[in-house]
Amino acid sequence: MRKHFFSGIQPSGRLHIGNYLGAIKQWISLQDSYEPVFGIVDYHAMTVRYDPLEMPGRVLDAAASYVAAGLDPEKSILMVQSHVPEHVELAWILNCVTPMGRLSRVPTFKEKVRQNPDNVNMGLFGYPILMAADILLYRSEIVPVGEDQVPHLEFTREVARRFNSVFGETFREPVEVLSKGARIRGLDGINKMSKSLENCLYLDDSDEVISKKISTAPTDPARKRRTDPGDPDVCNIYSYHRIFSTPEELEHCAHGCATAEIGCLDCKRILIRHVQEMVAPIRDRRADLLARPDDLIEILRLGAERARPIAQATMAEVKAKVGVAVG
Ligand code: TYM
Repeated sequence: MRKHFFSGIQPSGRLHIGNYLGAIKQWISLQDSYEPVFGIVDYHAMTVRYDPLEMPGRVLDAAASYVAAGLDPEKSILMVQSHVPEHVELAWILNCVTPMGRLSRVPTFKEKVRQNPDNVNMGLFGYPILMAADILLYRSEIVPVGEDQVPHLEFTREVARRFNSVFGETFREPVEVLSKGARIRGLDGINKMSKSLENCLYLDDSDEVISKKISTAPTDPARKRRTDPGDPDVCNIYSYHRIFSTPEELEHCAHGCATAEIGCLDCKRILIRHVQEMVAPIRDRRADLLARPDDLIEILRLGAERARPIAQATMAEVKAKVGVAVG
C-alpha cells in the first residue's frame, strides 16, 4: 500500500509559477510512489480578511490548477480541508500541547502581524497548529513545500515530539522536501513571488501578458545601457534562466551579458519562450476544466471521501491516547 503525505495550497488567489515550481511540480513526481493528499486549505485562508462570496470560486480555481498542472485525481487525493473535519479536531488537541510563547515566535506570524495589524486574530496565531494537524493527520514522513514553509515544518516536528512525550509515541517527525524551485523570486527582483505582492507570473497568464511582464522586469540595475556589461549573478532574469534554460542557453546568456554581446531583451526573449511553453498547456487545460465545474466538484467530493477514513483512523488512535475515547 502506498504511504500518504499531505501538502496544500491556500485558495487565496490565482496560483503562480512559484506555487508550481516550489510545490506542485514536486507533488506530480511523487504521486506514483505515494498516495498523497493534496489539500486546498480553505480554513487557513480564513485567517486574513476575504470575501465569502469569492471563496467557492477560488477553491474551484485551485482544483482546476491542480489537475491542469498534472495532478491525477486517481493517483492522488485532491480535497478541500473543510470537507474533512478531523483537521480541526486534531488541531484542537494539538493546541493543548503547544505553548503560546512558541507560537508567538513563528516568523510567518510576525510577518502577518506586520501586514495585517488591524486583524491579528486567533486563527492567525494558531495557523501553524492547523498546518501541523494537516500534516500529522496523514502520518506524513515527507512534506514537499517551498522554502517559506520550512519554519512551519520545524514547528510541526516540535508539536509531534511534544505530543509523543506527553501521550506516548504516536507521530513520526515529518521532513520537508525542497526542489530546485523552492524559492522563486518575484518579478520585482526583491521579494519572493507572492500573490499579495503583485509580482507574479500566473499559471493562467496569456502569452502576451507573460511577454509584457518579463520584458518590463528589472535586470542587473548597474546595466543601464545596452553597451554596459552586466553581472548575471545579480540579475533576477538570470535567476529564472537557472530554472528554465538549457546549459547552453545559460552559458550563452551569462557570457553574452558579461561581455555586452547580447542585450537584456535578447536574454529575456529566451526566457519568455520557456515560460510561455510551460504555462500554455496548463492555462488551456485549466480553461477546459473550469468550463465543467461539476466535474471538479465531484473530484473534490471523492477526494474527501478517500481522505476521511485515513483521517478517522489517526483520530481514533489520538483520541484513545488523550483519553477522550470512552464509550
Ligand atoms: P501557500 O498557499 O502560500 O503556497 C503553496 C505552496 O507554494 C509554495 N510557494 C513557493 N515556492 C517557491 N517560490 C515561491 N515564491 C513560492 N510561493 C509559494 C509554498 O512554499 C507552498 O509549498 N501554509 C501553506 C499551506 C498549507 C500547507 C499545509 C502546506 C497548509 N497546510 C500542510 C504543506 C502542508 C501556505 O500558505 O502555502
